[in-house]
Amino acid sequence: MDRILVTGGTGYIGSHTVVELQQAGYPVVIIDNLSNSNRDVLDGIERITGIRPDFVEGDCTDIETLRKLFADYPGIKGIINFAASKAVGESMQKPILYYRNNLNTLMNLLDLMAPNDVKGIVFSSSCTVYGEPDENPVTEQSPIKKATSPYGNTKQISEEIITDVINAGAPFKSVILRYFNPVGAHPSAEIGELPNGVPQNLIPYLTQTAIGIRKELSVFGDDYDTPDGSCIRDYINVVDLAKAHVLAVKRMLEDKSEAKIEIFNLGTGNGVSVLELIDTFEEATGVKVPHKIVGRRAGDIEKVWANPTYANEVLGWKATSTLEDTMCSAWAWQCRLRERGIM
Ligand code: NAD
Ligand code: UFG
Repeated sequence: MDRILVTGGTGYIGSHTVVELQQAGYPVVIIDNLSNSNRDVLDGIERITGIRPDFVEGDCTDIETLRKLFADYPGIKGIINFAASKAVGESMQKPILYYRNNLNTLMNLLDLMAPNDVKGIVFSSSCTVYGEPDENPVTEQSPIKKATSPYGNTKQISEEIITDVINAGAPFKSVILRYFNPVGAHPSAEIGELPNGVPQNLIPYLTQTAIGIRKELSVFGDDYDTPDGSCIRDYINVVDLAKAHVLAVKRMLEDKSEAKIEIFNLGTGNGVSVLELIDTFEEATGVKVPHKIVGRRAGDIEKVWANPTYANEVLGWKATSTLEDTMCSAWAWQCRLRERGIM
């Protein structure tokens, strides 16, 4: 089968996607600079699938590294580009890092696709492109609002770069996937989310609190215009999300795309508040999460959730995991890290 290049493939979503690609029969080569992941992830992938993916430690902002990769691994027909810096708050402090890393990575890949006969690229975008939506759920046609952070801006600009390059006649296709909030871990607990340092995102902070690494989870605000006052998001299971990438790759490589650029929202369609999520975790796992309400976090969106109909009908993808099972998977992963003495 056609070989797939997965940039950022040892990261959180990338590693789960590599598992699904390998289980679907695709040979994978990963490039990752390990800036936000580590080599042990390769062991986890191998334990689940029985296959160790090819791995290049390298930086996608260096085009010569990528040129060499294409020469060393011939037959790459598809790319999934996860490699990016992704912390919204950090991007406010270090905008150049974000613009340089996220945009140069994408442009280098786009530059090398035609000369290497690559047929398509899947791009990791985000619901941050919708900003604070006027109406929920959001469809792919909902307005793109001014980005609230350099990180969000890199996703908007990246979508524009892909569009410009393909409209200029590039001989390949793209599927742009706008993720809502990916959470949970592989059911084997062999891979999961392992952010460096103090987690910024809700679920890793919550599981680290539940296991006693952190004293208390802060709930950022209970005075929003939502039923319980806390923010609402669409929490999507990471394995469900990973499976959408296999469908997207297949679609491009088998010439089933309806247009040279297709955009899909990947969410469940359900909006869940922070307080509801804590309750769901506690009920599903039987473990209490000490928490307190604090002030709002700057830059947070009040509420956003997806209308995933287009992905359901056209991509043939649907989120199937329950939130309870997803919370249990996140907890099992946290417990596994404890067993291994990692956290
Ligand atoms: P992650 O940080 O776990 O994974 C990204 C990987 O890319 C890491 O392993 C990192 O080491 C690597 N990387 C970063 N820059 C690189 C470079 N220049 N060269 C090579 N490797 C590089 O993040 P994730 O949560 O798996 O996110 C994957 C993608 O999905 C990102 O593009 C992110 O912006 C996007 N996304 C994530 C979320 C989310 O909430 N996790 C939501 C929407 C979109
Ligand atoms: N939250 C807390 N306490 C915490 C952490 C988060 O109450 O300690 C709340 C936030 O205020 C927000 C919700 O939990 O209401 C989710 O916050 P996350 O930080 O987990 O996620 P965000 O929605 O802010 O952003 C995430 C990723 C972005 C991505 C976006 C959309 O961090 O990279 O989802 O996909 F773009």
